[in-house]
Amino acid sequence: MGLRGPLRGALRREARGLRGESVNPIVVVLNGPNLNLLGKREPEIYGRETLADVEADCRRMGGELKLSIEFHQSNREYELIDWIHGARDRAAGIVINPAAFTHTSVAILDALNAFEGPIIEVHISNVHKREPFRRHSYVSGVAAGVIAGCGTQGYLFALQRIAQLVAL
Ligand code: DQA
Repeated sequence: MGLRGPLRGALRREARGLRGESVNPIVVVLNGPNLNLLGKREPEIYGRETLADVEADCRRMGGELKLSIEFHQSNREYELIDWIHGARDRAAGIVINPAAFTHTSVAILDALNAFEGPIIEVHISNVHKREPFRRHSYVSGVAAGVIAGCGTQGYLFALQRIAQLVAL
């Protein structure tokens, strides 16, 4: 799934700055509750990399792919929703690890449904190998792709996929 018609045009137009210089497409990377504890929280499941490490990796990959990365984490559902709204008509794509909200939040699903560009859902752990309640995701129904169980490398795969979809 690439970008849908008018949005694609709008983002292309915005790909030029005020002086006509080229501006990289924006990708918003969102992280849900408890991911601020990455590296300390259940490292046998989530690994030892911190969220700051993941952010640095995403920014490095963004540089390689010529994407401008906006990176956020919150333990509050409304903040994630506000960032999704803020991405509308401005960002080329969203990478989201909704964490526990994956399995509970119709509100995040509704916000994502109002975003027109590609969305990639990321889970560090393989949610299908864990407790049965983690197998259901409200977000997967709107996501162009889902990456689970690849560790924090999954974020980089997601950025590569968004770069591909934006270029289509
Ligand atoms: C997670 C998986 C979720 O089930 C869990 O609630 C998380 C992290 C992951 O990245 O593997 O907090 O999204």
